[in-house]
Amino acid sequence: SYDRIVVFGSIVQDLVSYTDRFPRPGESVRGNDFKSGSGGKGANQAVAAARLGANVAMIGLVGEDMFGDSNIKGLTENGVDTSCVGKTKESHTATATITVNKEAENSIVVTLGANLLLTPEVADANSSIISNSKMVMCQGEIDEKGNRRAFEIARKNKVITFLNPAPGDPNMDKTILDLVDIICTNENEAEFITGIPQNNVEDAKKAALEMVKMGPKHAIITLGAKGVLLASKGQNEIEHISVDKVEAIDTTGAGDCFCGTFAAHHVAGVSMIDAIRSAAKIAALSVTRHGTQSSYWKLDEIKEKHPDFLP
Ligand code: RIB
Ligand code: NA
Repeated sequence: SYDRIVVFGSIVQDLVSYTDRFPRPGESVRGNDFKSGSGGKGANQAVAAARLGANVAMIGLVGEDMFGDSNIKGLTENGVDTSCVGKTKESHTATATITVNKEAENSIVVTLGANLLLTPEVADANSSIISNSKMVMCQGEIDEKGNRRAFEIARKNKVITFLNPAPGDPNMDKTILDLVDIICTNENEAEFITGIPQNNVEDAKKAALEMVKMGPKHAIITLGAKGVLLASKGQNEIEHISVDKVEAIDTTGAGDCFCGTFAAHHVAGVSMIDAIRSAAKIAALSVTRHGTQSSYWKLDEIKEKHPDFLP
């Protein structure tokens, strides 16, 4: 449908241990708490957008195992259309083994399993749902050729293309940027893409300007507590949106919450700046709760407790 967001991306089972600090090589540390939940950058972004009230469909792959079933169930319960999520015998549902320390920082081992079978052929098989959406969102946790094909299909049909090239990959094929309308990165990913070393906000501004020269109409760089930058084609001025300080307990998936929330606002016709400002505030709410998808606030709750966070 005209306002639909389709996510062509990853589905991952998150296995999270909360510790005082990260173990050193060869060392075991005791965890204080453990949580298992649905994750993956693609699914997280789909759920974040759906919780903000967007019409969202997911194209993805899981294995024929219990994690696959529970991740599909989780998406469905959040209102995401999973009719294009497949199950494969060829691989397992992806897992992320995550450690979160006392500082709310994380370290992640993600084993992508079935996500790596999200190939150009899968994009072709789902071309009608992509063509009939308003926006397609991709990340860096599937076959990059799959992302490219999804964007090619989108471009032919004037569907907005959104890329969050996360986690950052220094060997990423940058020619995909020709097919991207909106790119959203953190500093690390911006450095991989532009080659501009990132040490401060000035460096990030240079990278944002450089990224819009590489194809996208808009480049968004999230800087954590330092806010968010927006560079747009044809404009020399960079917008710097600041964020309020919050008590973080788990920052995992905050970037995905930002992307999904931004997308929900964007397809609803909200301006770039207002969409970014609101997405930054709502992503900050998610770091005050454990987990990824499980930490994302729903529209009703935001309306009740933080109505001013909405555009
Ligand atoms: O961006 C956060 C996500 O990255 C987690 O949900 C985990 O699955 C990892 O892939
Ligand atoms: Na969180």
